[in-house]
Amino acid sequence: MCKRKILAIAGSNHKQSLTNMLMKGLLNEIKTLNESYEAKVICLRDYKIDYCIGCKICFYEGFCPMDEQDDFTIIRNELLESDIIFFASPVYVHNVSGIMKTFFDRISASTHLMNYAGKIGFTLTTTESTGQDDVKKYLIKMQEAIGIKNLDNYVFSNENSTMKQFVKTNGINFLKSLENNYGYTNRILEWRFGFFRNLYGNMINQDLGKEKQETFELDYWNQIWIKECRSFQEFAIKNRIVASSTKNFLQE
Ligand SMILES: Cc1cc2nc3c(=O)[nH]c(=O)nc-3n(C[C@H](O)[C@H](O)[C@H](O)COP(=O)(O)O)c2cc1C
Repeated sequence: MCKRKILAIAGSNHKQSLTNMLMKGLLNEIKTLNESYEAKVICLRDYKIDYCIGCKICFYEGFCPMDEQDDFTIIRNELLESDIIFFASPVYVHNVSGIMKTFFDRISASTHLMNYAGKIGFTLTTTESTGQDDVKKYLIKMQEAIGIKNLDNYVFSNENSTMKQFVKTNGINFLKSLENNYGYTNRILEWRFGFFRNLYGNMINQDLGKEKQETFELDYWNQIWIKECRSFQEFAIKNRIVASSTKNFLQE
């Protein structure tokens, strides 16, 4: 049986991270409830991840030079191979943690490519008591920006929840959300897809300005298979095939 792969990115630098523990507990519960899932948590503190240096090569050329000197390629590959992605972050001063933001900086080129289309997303926000709405909103925004269809968002507040309760309730919630889900698209994803298709579909190299030639994004959106897609849903389904083939556009 081919199992569906769940990957959770736990964004904490804390040795005994509550976010990491909750994610592991929830994924174990899900696997116990339904054997057709396999799951992995990547706790960012266990990897060498350097800060984005702001060179913008990812936007202009489609790769990050920092990948050669740290562990980010491992994370990128795990993300691309997964079917379901959790973004999990604690609230640190009413925002995501610093390490989570560094993770987002390093995948920011994907916000112009939507190359995670065809994946389903969930989020987890942990907090002592405040800031959860802002963080939750941002995690959802990041999933949708890179092409992931967000299905549900869990919040754990130390003040009024126990870990056991949280894991039991949301293990069931998770499976119900997937059971009731149809497809990989929603209104926001369709809108963003239409926006990029129009922007790059009507552009030629000379339009890109004198400073930098953003030919990578232009070439990406003008691939025949993408141009032929009439909707984000179609793009998402085809992208699942392209992303799983041995050589895709981003790796060439
Ligand atoms: C630097 C820092 C800032 C925090 N800021 C907030 C905050 O603004 N509001 C809040 O309710 N809890 C705040 N907390 C508490 C954490 O959100 C909470 O303990 C969380 O579960 C920690 O998860 P972790 O162990 O995975 O890092 C903060 C904790 C730290 C270390």
